[in-house]
Amino acid sequence: MQRLFPLTLLAILAIGLIIACKHEPPIQPGGGGLPIPGCDNTDICFESTILPIFQSSCAKAGCHDATTAEDGYVLDSYANIIKKGIKPGNAGGSKLYTVLFKTGGDQMPPLPSAPLSQAQRDSIGKWINNGAKNTINCNCSCDTAQYTYTAVIKPIMDVSCVGCHNAASLGGGINLSNHAAVKAVAVNGKLMGSINHAPGYIAMPQGGKLSDCQIKQVDKWVKAGSLNN
Ligand code: HEC
Repeated sequence: MQRLFPLTLLAILAIGLIIACKHEPPIQPGGGGLPIPGCDNTDICFESTILPIFQSSCAKAGCHDATTAEDGYVLDSYANIIKKGIKPGNAGGSKLYTVLFKTGGDQMPPLPSAPLSQAQRDSIGKWINNGAKNTINCNCSCDTAQYTYTAVIKPIMDVSCVGCHNAASLGGGINLSNHAAVKAVAVNGKLMGSINHAPGYIAMPQGGKLSDCQIKQVDKWVKAGSLNN
């Protein structure tokens, strides 16, 4: 009996550890839904990482925009996102997190959309576990001298645009998930027109605006010939 005691203690400790870690999978580098380069990665930033995921994958017309509010969820701003389905500090008890792992007819975002990437789900889970705070201006050191497609433009598209502009979900018939397609809207003027919210263009991203620094980076990339660099 006496000898069993340390073993039991160890088992309890191990189980405790497993439960504590269960909903905090490691954040993986690469893929959409990760912070904009130059932003502080140590915490998950609501403004630069979480909000764009909800805006581009959930707050679409017919789904969770203010007009449709499917199931009572409006997922277009911090104030609305935090209203329902999130228990700060407890991702595992938060419907807006657990629903991301449903499959088949219950999948969110629903078929034919692809499920969120593991990196995006990790970011949302970590953000909720960290208290689901409205973190903004998260030490982003956006640098207008940087504007290559690979390091800057593609990550901006992946975070803020591709959720609505991919092969399965062609907003306005436009796909922004590869260089050739982004270049096509760069060349016809629609890319800058839409992100500048210029008259005559549909303002993008829907329900938001890129930061001035990001708009400048895209502008420089377009003016330099929208290269695949
Ligand atoms: C929530 C979904 C959503 C997000 C996020 C989004 N778009 Fe769109 N976008 C659409 C839809 C839907 C249309 C078509 C609108 C229409 O035809 O009324 C569209 C249209 C466009 C157009 C055509 C504009 C025009 O004036 O003809 C461009 C260019 C565009 N988007 C670029 C972007 C870029 C760049 C981003 C990211 C910075 C972005 N979009 C983010 C849904 C989205």
